[in-house]
Amino acid sequence: MVKAPIAVALDAPDIETAAQWASLVTPYVSVVKVGLQLFCRYGPEVVAVVRGGSRVGLFLDLKLHDIPATVAGAAKSVARLRPRYLTVHATGGPTMIKAAVEALPEVQIAAVTVLTSMTGSDLDAVGLAGPPRDAVRRLATLSVAAGARAVVCSPQEVAAVRAEVGSGITLITAGVRPAGSAPQDQARVATPQQALAAGADLLVIGRPITGAADPASAAARLAADLSVRR
Ligand code: C5P
Repeated sequence: MVKAPIAVALDAPDIETAAQWASLVTPYVSVVKVGLQLFCRYGPEVVAVVRGGSRVGLFLDLKLHDIPATVAGAAKSVARLRPRYLTVHATGGPTMIKAAVEALPEVQIAAVTVLTSMTGSDLDAVGLAGPPRDAVRRLATLSVAAGARAVVCSPQEVAAVRAEVGSGITLITAGVRPAGSAPQDQARVATPQQALAAGADLLVIGRPITGAADPASAAARLAADLSVRR
């Protein structure tokens, strides 16, 4: 079976829950995402546990943001985990992004443009005036010019980013909500079908799957729905 282009965000309180979610969803999705909640508690050892011997892709969502030498050092520190994607914040700037790319040439460095939880007024508050779409496009362009092979944005900007960066770049969208699910703390959202139709390559989906009574069937349903509509 072809697995769905979904990265399940394993934002679990403990390693046992993360491992359980991972084993339930890996039959249906191509990637699992380990983020700050698990990595800060358990460190790199959590990766082998969530992989559990499967060949699922690893999305290491550490959102690195520091001076270039420190980001390069952090990137090298996770090389042995062989992630498929590693995130850095695009607002760290071109030199920082380039440092991550050069430190880990085998890995797709994914530049996070504007967090999908941020609204236009949040952007004004941090001095990035203008609609989110403009900031996202600007940050995507500079990230790709600095060597990033993947960009993270919301489904609402993915078409504009695709027009800007072309077809060779992996576009990853967070802020994905199946019709009828609550946005929770996400602000710029759309459905999985809308995200794919707009040009996304990989959909990050967390709580709509992991918060379901039965995460395996939630993942299976989403995967089946996407394969019908593709
Ligand atoms: O549960 P939910 O589907 O909202 O999870 C979204 C995941 O995507 C979280 O793990 C969050 O850290 C991550 N993320 C995001 N917005 C970005 C980049 C990553 O929500 N711009």
